[in-house]
Amino acid sequence: MLKPALACTLLLVAAAQSQTATLHIDTSKPVSKVSPELYGLMTEEINYSYDGGLYAELIRNRTMRADWSGVLHWYVVEHGNSQASISPDKTTSPSAALPYSVKLTVTQADPSNPAGLENEGYWGIPVTPNTEYRGSFYAKSDSGANITVRLVDDFRPRTIAQAVMTDVIADWKKYEFTLKTGNTNTSTANHLVLTIDKPGTVWFSLVSLFPPTYMNQPNGFRIDLMEKLAAMHPKFLRLPGGNYLEGDHINERFDWKKTIGPLVDRPTHRSPWNYQSSDGMGLLEFLMWCEDLHMQPVLAVYAGYSLMQEHVNPGPDLDPYVQDALDEIEYVTGGPDTKWGAERVKDGHPAPFPLKYVEIGNEDMFDRSGSYEGRYAQFYKAIKAKYPNLQLIATMTIKDMRPDVIDDHFYRRKEEFFNDTTHYDKSDRSGPKIFVGEWATREGSPTPNFGAALGDAAWMTGMERNSDIVIMSSYAPLLVNVNPGGLQWESDLIGYNAASSYGSPSYYAQVMFASYIGDETVASTLTGAGPRFFYSATRDATKGKLYLKLVNASSIPQDINLQLGGAGKIGSTATLVSLHALTNEATNTITEPAKIVPVKNQIQNVSAGFHHTVPGYSIEVLDIDVR
Ligand code: AHR
Repeated sequence: MLKPALACTLLLVAAAQSQTATLHIDTSKPVSKVSPELYGLMTEEINYSYDGGLYAELIRNRTMRADWSGVLHWYVVEHGNSQASISPDKTTSPSAALPYSVKLTVTQADPSNPAGLENEGYWGIPVTPNTEYRGSFYAKSDSGANITVRLVDDFRPRTIAQAVMTDVIADWKKYEFTLKTGNTNTSTANHLVLTIDKPGTVWFSLVSLFPPTYMNQPNGFRIDLMEKLAAMHPKFLRLPGGNYLEGDHINERFDWKKTIGPLVDRPTHRSPWNYQSSDGMGLLEFLMWCEDLHMQPVLAVYAGYSLMQEHVNPGPDLDPYVQDALDEIEYVTGGPDTKWGAERVKDGHPAPFPLKYVEIGNEDMFDRSGSYEGRYAQFYKAIKAKYPNLQLIATMTIKDMRPDVIDDHFYRRKEEFFNDTTHYDKSDRSGPKIFVGEWATREGSPTPNFGAALGDAAWMTGMERNSDIVIMSSYAPLLVNVNPGGLQWESDLIGYNAASSYGSPSYYAQVMFASYIGDETVASTLTGAGPRFFYSATRDATKGKLYLKLVNASSIPQDINLQLGGAGKIGSTATLVSLHALTNEATNTITEPAKIVPVKNQIQNVSAGFHHTVPGYSIEVLDIDVR
């Protein structure tokens, strides 16, 4: 006989089992097209996404900006009895774009007691064994100084790697060096030191240090982050924002012409997320990022509105901005015989980039002047006249004309997504097409928790079902540096520090959805499921695949009677990928990066009618052969 307590537990478990649902799928009946461009990326300079993130530069404030407190992130170094000071100097610099430098004055130093300055990096400088770091700086000296560059451990006076640049001349010049580590330990607690070993004055600017980068590109990207992005199979990159496109003020917009060419000619600018952007990630770097990950650019052009309610009136005032957008499109797509195409060739990329979509502005419904209708129309007319094949995205509904595509944004709690997965079911199929250019379930910080992943997955089933009209979507924000002070916006897909990165449960949900995407939805009906159960059924007719996404956002398992009709032959073994947690709050962190990751298994006895149980709090993909 069962003990009363055990009997009671069994009863509770039984009561917590949902009733069996029936999911009928007819794999021979396509219902609507799934856009091959449905899943892509959106990023901007927020949360140290590029500087201190994807852009692999290790030196923070490499251009030596200063405020009342001194030169930011740079400090004086005085070994032994040496004496030195550093100060910003606005009287000399290596370029017009960088109108200042840092002046190092050393009054006492010798080879055993050098003096100089040091940089703390972006919450440390990551070092790994047997690694080559490429560096450079601009300098001039009044005394033919020899400059020693060293990577130094924060906790021990230990040089990890060093290089010496001899006879620095009296005029500004770029000096390049490599630092090679030996059999050292992996750590982020390091800094970069530049010293001289005799009294003298040296001016520095644009001090740069790069670790090995993705595909070994100079001025390139962090390998771990690029690999994580590649695993999302993104089809496009919406660039360069977001608020970052607009800036708080017109003169703080993403002024693309100031982000191309040699780094020393890029003035840097303030991001609306309250820190200075190095603009190392300039327009060409965005495009190369697209090229590396086989994504198409979705180019957002500045459209005459900035966040602090500054706008440019449609008409002649707006003409220069429209011209700037035309120039930008030419830089992206033009041949060497065009002015801006030739500029791109000069910058090192002879081949034009493919371009299909241009977005006019960002979130212009916040422009209280109501000027967007006129601004959009002016950009539309000018761009279409020169590039009739480009699809032009509007950032809000336009009354007097029908844009090609509209960019919708959704930042929500999971319940809101659960209750609105049918959002686009009734949309007018004659257009405009929809680009869900920013969306996220905002639960969990700095990165979303499992409950958020459930909200995201439920929402993605709705986007897939409506992907004949929802042609593209991109989660935002994508990246966050999880160090204190790194975050400006909670719930970001991928977190990292100087050394490592991790995907949130929401990241893995997207990897799963984008890895198994068919080209058509198929006829299906679901009966008897609990209210927090969502699904999407697509097929890839060429591959003979049915992809079934099943989302159980309730805590109790959902048993399903799966009825597969219309297939000649059904493979008896299917692949099951599942992402599961015990609670909504469960999550991944920088110290526990893999608590929740997709698990791949094979399931047996798949047939035209079989039972499958989706555990509570689970996101699943079933990949079934249906030839
Ligand atoms: O993703 C964060 C911000 O949200 C974007 O910059 C902006 O477009 C939106 O308001």
